[in-house]
Amino acid sequence: MSATLPDFIAQHLSQNGLPAELGSVIHTLARACTDISRQVRAGALGGVLGSAGSGNVQGEEQKKLDVLANRLLINALAQNTAVAGLASEEEDSFVATNEQGRYLVLFDPLDGSSNIDVNISIGTIFSVLEKPAGALNTESFLQPGRAQAASGYVLYGPQTLLVFTLGHGVYVFTLDAAQEFVLTQALPQIAADSAEFAINMSNQRHWEAPVQQYIVELLAGSTGSRGKDYNMRWVASMVAEVHRILMRGGVFLYPKDARDPNKPGKLRLMYEANPLSLIVEQAGGAACDAHTRMLDIRPIGLHQRVAVVLGSRNEVDYVHRLHQT
Ligand code: AHG
Ligand code: MN
Ligand code: MN
Repeated sequence: MSATLPDFIAQHLSQNGLPAELGSVIHTLARACTDISRQVRAGALGGVLGSAGSGNVQGEEQKKLDVLANRLLINALAQNTAVAGLASEEEDSFVATNEQGRYLVLFDPLDGSSNIDVNISIGTIFSVLEKPAGALNTESFLQPGRAQAASGYVLYGPQTLLVFTLGHGVYVFTLDAAQEFVLTQALPQIAADSAEFAINMSNQRHWEAPVQQYIVELLAGSTGSRGKDYNMRWVASMVAEVHRILMRGGVFLYPKDARDPNKPGKLRLMYEANPLSLIVEQAGGAACDAHTRMLDIRPIGLHQRVAVVLGSRNEVDYVHRLHQT
């Protein structure tokens, strides 16, 4: 159980007949995230807190750590000859790296930016796709989530954890004192039922009717139709919410709402919803946009936004059914 990341990857690749280049991409991501972890832990002492004074393509204010994490990942991935190109939440368009590369990497360099300056868990999310044949263009990246060769996240919390799947279950690694990732949990499973939900309740008045109904039912607890009491959590770092759900079940919602009718949701399909949905499915959970299985959605843009419902299968299926009636 205490395999180091290199030992685990070597064995996992050979057991499942996966290419060595895929392992090398995970190694590169792990190394870059170890550097990000070091910067996060330095905090004010490293001068990394606060705003960068810039905005990204999505009109969001960038924090210094958003910019730094983005740079560290791009520099590391560009040096890996297995990586043909990358796309980042913080970049306007994709970046071509190595012409001969077999893979494309998409990432949210720093998830939970609003938590950086208050010392609450944040993360990095990544998605790995095979590069289609031919010249690299935006289309090359617009593959449905089920095509992902790998996905995962690094959680910078009380411990730094690396969690990923190469399509054969989920594995959890903990960064040790020598800055090495060590396997600490294999094949976690998300219980089909749960009694914990995560949603930003401050948006309640903007939700559509099915989500309103669902949350009313959960809040009624043992006195309502669900017949049991529910607990609520909202960290505002999706990585932290997904990790909690991976460890003890639950359901996470960031639904479509009426604040901006042009936005089908807040979260990004390519950098957040798809990679985390693959993790959730690989652990026996479910993920959808309230209408369609997340991993079946045909992407139309790199920075596309989407509604998200994920976690314990029976809760996600129930929310899906509420949207069909
Ligand atoms: P990012 O920091 O990459 O922009 O993502 C933040 C996301 C997600 O992690 C979290 O679930 C959600 O935004 C929080 O939204 P609210 O601020 O509306 O709570
Ligand atoms: Mn994010
Ligand atoms: Mn981000």
